[in-house]
Amino acid sequence: MKSERAKKISPSATLEITSRAKKMKKEGKDVVILAAGEPDFPTPRRIKDAAIKAIENNFTTYTPTSGIPELKEAICKKFERDNGLKYTTKEVMAHCGGKHALYLAFQCLLNPKDEVILHIPYWNSYIEQVKLAEGLPVEIMSKPDMSLDMDQIKSSITDKTKVLLINSPSNPSGYVIKKEEALVIGEILLKNKDLFLISDEVYEYFIYEGKHINIASLFPELKERILIVNAVSKSYSMTGWRLGYCAGPEELISSMTSLQDHMTSNPSSISQIAAVEAISGEQEDVKIMLQEFTKRRSFLVDTLNRFPLISCSPPGGAFYAFVNIEKTGMNSVTFADKLLSESLVAVIPGKAFGMDNYIRLSFAASREALEKGVERIEKFLKTV
Ligand SMILES: Cc1ncc(COP(=O)(O)O)c(C=O)c1O
Repeated sequence: MKSERAKKISPSATLEITSRAKKMKKEGKDVVILAAGEPDFPTPRRIKDAAIKAIENNFTTYTPTSGIPELKEAICKKFERDNGLKYTTKEVMAHCGGKHALYLAFQCLLNPKDEVILHIPYWNSYIEQVKLAEGLPVEIMSKPDMSLDMDQIKSSITDKTKVLLINSPSNPSGYVIKKEEALVIGEILLKNKDLFLISDEVYEYFIYEGKHINIASLFPELKERILIVNAVSKSYSMTGWRLGYCAGPEELISSMTSLQDHMTSNPSSISQIAAVEAISGEQEDVKIMLQEFTKRRSFLVDTLNRFPLISCSPPGGAFYAFVNIEKTGMNSVTFADKLLSESLVAVIPGKAFGMDNYIRLSFAASREALEKGVERIEKFLKTV
């Protein structure tokens, strides 16, 4: 029954394990979920109020596909405020989540067998989305400290290479690219005139060490070959609102808009109004979240590193601990499966990110959940 295309697609391991854990919780089991990639904070009051007002004002009809003018203007201002980048409203658009921005970008950039270079560990949806666009993911292993391997990027470029994909801060490793690396990436793009860069910056505001580097701002001459993907999902604890956005060359944005016309039309009108408030209102809530994540990160990383069989480096950004489990002798799927069924802690097996000797724990969970989770992990490790 299934098409060849459908046969090639794997379900999202991150969503799968989270829904399994949620189901167990519903059945009355005391499961600690450290799997989900979403802040546990409620969406800030100011944003909820803007959305409620939108509903009361009957702002509930279709909007232009690429987003309402107020949102597009807010997106342009955000890029100028945070990244020093000037875009016109024709160079930005809104989507149903950052995920859909990426999907559309691959569909609009790739011809069959075009290659996309990306680093392991990668966010799992990239691979499936590239495959859906009939492209070929070219997976490069990050260096042991999770930094980008520039020599490998250079040697992987062929005449079929279309896109270089960078995700900083990275999900799952938390790696944040350094200015020196960004400069090398820019040089690679200058040298390879047909190469396009997709920069996934959805964790931009969650940085604990160093600062967010935006490659487009370092190389204004490359603006026509860079697509920046972002979203309000993580930044403002709005994962369920499904509102992502991007900025890039007008020609690409125009194609992505045409495709979106036939896929989802506009993202939710209410979410768009909420996103205007999120992006352009007072940014205090982001700072509060960052402060809390900073504390949780220290707690989680310090505690996990006390356990003999596992280790993890403090992530520079995002809100995940990427933990090496090699010494347990288990692969990541077995580890995550046993940890969930025997000790009731849900984590994501690193296999989903291309590294079967790691697991990913989210510290976007309450302090109480983290404490309970690590206590159970410690006990679990003693049984290994
Ligand atoms: C690296 C990365 N990019 C993009 C996304 C998509 O975010 P959204 O929820 O806005 O679709 C995620 C979500 O987990 C992510 O981790």
